[in-house]
Amino acid sequence: MARSKPLLDAKETRDRIVALRAEVLKHQRAYHQQDAPLISDAQYDALVRELEELESAFPDLAPGTSPVDQVGFAPKREFSEVRHRVPMLSLNNAFEPQDVEQYVARLAQNLGLAADAPELRFSAELKFDGIAVSLRYERGLLTQAATRGDGSVGEDITVNIRVIPSVPPRLTGNSIPEVLEVRGEVLMQKQDFAALNQRQAALGEKVFVNPRNAAAGSLRQLDPAVTASRPLSFFAYGTGEVVLSRELESKLLTHSDWLNALQGWGLPVGTLRRSQLDAEGLRRFYADVLARRSDLPFEIDGVVYKLESLALQAKAGFVSRAPRFAIAHKFPAEEASTRLLDIDVQVGRTGALTPVARLEPVFVGGVTVTNATLHNEDEITRKGLMIGDTVWVRRAGDVIPEVLGTIAALRPADARPFVMPMCCPVCGTKTVRESGEAVSRCPAGLSCKAQRKQAFLHFAQRKAMDIEGLGEKIVDQLVDGGHVTHLSDIYRLDVPLLSNLERMAEKSAQNLLDQIDRSRDASLARFLFALGIRHVGERTARDLALHFQSIDALRSATVEELMQAPDVGPVVAASIRSFFDLPEQAAVVDGLCAQVRITRLDDRPAVAPVSVTVEGVKAAGEVGQTSTQAASYPFTGMTVVLTGTLSSMSRDQASDWIVALGGKASGSVSAKTSLVVAGEAAGSKLAKAQELGVKVIDEAAFLAIIAPYRQDS
Ligand code: IVH
Repeated sequence: MARSKPLLDAKETRDRIVALRAEVLKHQRAYHQQDAPLISDAQYDALVRELEELESAFPDLAPGTSPVDQVGFAPKREFSEVRHRVPMLSLNNAFEPQDVEQYVARLAQNLGLAADAPELRFSAELKFDGIAVSLRYERGLLTQAATRGDGSVGEDITVNIRVIPSVPPRLTGNSIPEVLEVRGEVLMQKQDFAALNQRQAALGEKVFVNPRNAAAGSLRQLDPAVTASRPLSFFAYGTGEVVLSRELESKLLTHSDWLNALQGWGLPVGTLRRSQLDAEGLRRFYADVLARRSDLPFEIDGVVYKLESLALQAKAGFVSRAPRFAIAHKFPAEEASTRLLDIDVQVGRTGALTPVARLEPVFVGGVTVTNATLHNEDEITRKGLMIGDTVWVRRAGDVIPEVLGTIAALRPADARPFVMPMCCPVCGTKTVRESGEAVSRCPAGLSCKAQRKQAFLHFAQRKAMDIEGLGEKIVDQLVDGGHVTHLSDIYRLDVPLLSNLERMAEKSAQNLLDQIDRSRDASLARFLFALGIRHVGERTARDLALHFQSIDALRSATVEELMQAPDVGPVVAASIRSFFDLPEQAAVVDGLCAQVRITRLDDRPAVAPVSVTVEGVKAAGEVGQTSTQAASYPFTGMTVVLTGTLSSMSRDQASDWIVALGGKASGSVSAKTSLVVAGEAAGSKLAKAQELGVKVIDEAAFLAIIAPYRQDS
């Protein structure tokens, strides 16, 4: 785990230790007392690691107590104190797989066991990213709750804990211990956090930077009514002081036995956990949980491994602030702080001006992030960002990076505000911002080069005309070189011209031309989507294609007629009408119609005529793919949600089948959901479906339903 550091002399080392101690103390205070961290957890961990390494390498240069031996921080003054009868300790961290291997090897050695000894088994569970609390039950009744504080003395938060719905005021079940101190974590679910922040922003109140801070701020309220208004959850992961019968003690021999017992007494325990794992099992658990992290309804910052056997736990003992029997295996941080170097303005396909943060490269969520969208001017104001600020950046799963907010305390004297340009940064046209709109636009349309480039990229994308190889680099050269102006110009390109472009040889030019030719044969739905009409996404394009059945019928439809199509309201109808009314766009469409053959209405899977009964629903009659009404199909009238990964088809293909067979494919689970199709690693949507009692089927069952209709099977 050693990180190389430049060599320092004795004085420099002592100065560094003193400075690091002061820095760590400052951050401990900000985190634990003020619920307002100044740096990310990963940065804090890095500081502590450096300090620990220096202190252990140079014990003579580091006398006195170190803040790294201290767990948390002393309580806030307003709360009364609770002395923990069993200290609330912390965990040592592992970051890399080798750190875990070393930990297991060292533990085995300390216990006098071989590294692969069968007794060396672990339980693995989630590392909840919330606030550690201790709940005391006496004869089954909740009598006291406390925060961790400095590990020895915490804050009395009994009244606040009582308002958390998942904390039982009374234990249920059999053989309840005389005294049971439950250790666990209070947290706020991601959805609840987003809703709380929206409410706070609407009221002009403080918005929280992440769910952990929101949970901390909500729990440590002097007025428990405020806590009650904040949706908090609790998960138990261990125990403190316990007084129990000998009989019970003889039955609870492993950590997993205890978690099961806690669950049996009505306490919420995380369900994503495993028992009796060896080192290979731990590796698999880590990988599995990491893959499901972004689907979980709450935040975790890693997983925790604990020796199963309580007898071995006792034998393993402790190192200053942490037990030897457990270790936290941390995930790459999803949040980090970095400098906001500048704010650029990009022009999108519809002329929208989007401010984009240029960031000092920062490793977050497993990748190096250098840019993040800031959406619009109001968003920058709401987040209080200034150029030069140190900001919080978040990148979770595959979600695009986001700037969460600024760290006001670290604002430099030369920080400057962002000003939205009055003119388009690409073509210089004066921008407009309509009242009630958050976005400024360049009104120049296709005469603005930026919008023209985006129009080509949109036209070529997979879900539109699907021209593989017509990417940003080629489009930039084609537009900048004046080789293409209208979309239809794509169909006039030839090999000599294309092979003259940068990074294009004759072979790749020919490939691109083949792709362009292939795209001439298109469905009406694709063609409409490819035109890039504002508010006409993929689904609307398909609805319009099925409703109007020809480009001419659509072009000549009035706003009222357009509104007869499914899901087309006044805004979409007006946008379509004004698109076709613009002579410039009409010319583009005419030009394209001369090049493209529209051979079908849409690209849904072809539905074969069948008459079978699937799950009691009769699928009758013959329905061609251009008709959406009449017959009953397995998903007729149903709202179906896909979650997780399907192994035999993409999500888009599965959605197509749901729609083709009469259903509506939806992205989120609600009481209105009729059915959830759960693939591999299904996460929060599956949990929600189970909570709401919505029917869930697996991939095999889904394939069985669609099988009679597949012409390829
Ligand atoms: S066990 C003596 N298990 O992580 C061992 N801690 O970084 C005490 N945490 O102080 C902790 N999930 O606040 C344990 N499944 C889990 C946990 C967990 C979250 C927190 C806890 C602890 C901190 C250490």
